Amino acid sequence: MNIRKATAADIDLITELRLEFLRERSPDLDQAAIKALAGRSRDFFVRRLPIGDMVAMIGDVDGEAVSTAFMVVSEKPANPDFPDGRGGAIINVYTRPAHRRRGHSTAVVSALVEEARRLRIASLDLLASGEAASLYERIGFSPSGYSAMRLSLSGSEA
Ligand SMILES: CC(C)(COP(=O)(O)OP(=O)(O)OC[C@H]1O[C@@H](n2cnc3c(N)ncnc32)[C@H](O)[C@@H]1OP(=O)(O)O)[C@@H](O)C(=O)NCCC(=O)NCCS
Repeated sequence: MNIRKATAADIDLITELRLEFLRERSPDLDQAAIKALAGRSRDFFVRRLPIGDMVAMIGDVDGEAVSTAFMVVSEKPANPDFPDGRGGAIINVYTRPAHRRRGHSTAVVSALVEEARRLRIASLDLLASGEAASLYERIGFSPSGYSAMRLSLSGSEA
C-alpha cells in the first residue's frame, strides 16, 4: 500500500470515503441524511485542508484508495498536556470492506501519528469503537484517564 497525504485535489475522494464511513457507522440514518452530512463534511474539507488544520492520509492499493484516516488539529490555551496549545483528534478511520485485516488502518493511522509529530502536535485523542480499540493500542494509544462525556444539544448523535 502507498500512503499519501491528501491535497485539495483529493477532496471529492475523501468526501466519498467519508460517505462510506458514515453509512457504515450510522446504518439507521436514511440516505438523504447521510448525503447531507457528507456534503457538509466536504465544505469542512474545502475550508480546512488547504490551511493545514485538517490532515487526511490515504492508502492506495493498485491505484485505488482503500483506507483513510483524518486528523483535525485544534488550538487551545496552553496547558501541561498541550504546551504549544496544539492538539489533534483522529477521526474517520476507515478501510473499504474488501481490504480489511491486512494492516491498512494500522499503517494509515501510524502515518498520521508521524505527521502529527512532524507538526509538533503534543497529543492525539480519539474515540475508539470496540472493534478498533486493539488496533489503536498497538500503535501506542491508551486510555487518557479522562472519561469521554457528551451532552447532546441537537437531538442527533450524527
Ligand atoms: C476498524 C477498521 C478501521 C479496521 O481497518 P483494517 O484496515 O482492517 O485494520 P487493520 O488491518 O490495521 O487491523 C485490523 C485487524 O486485522 C489484523 N491484521 C492486520 N494484518 C493482518 C493480516 N495480514 N492477516 C490477518 N489479520 C491481520 C490486525 O492485527 C487487527 O486485529 P485486531 O482486530 O485483533 O486488532 C475497519 O474495520 C473499518 O473501516 N470499520 C468501519 C469504520 C470503523 O469502525 N472505524 C473505526 C472507528 S473508531
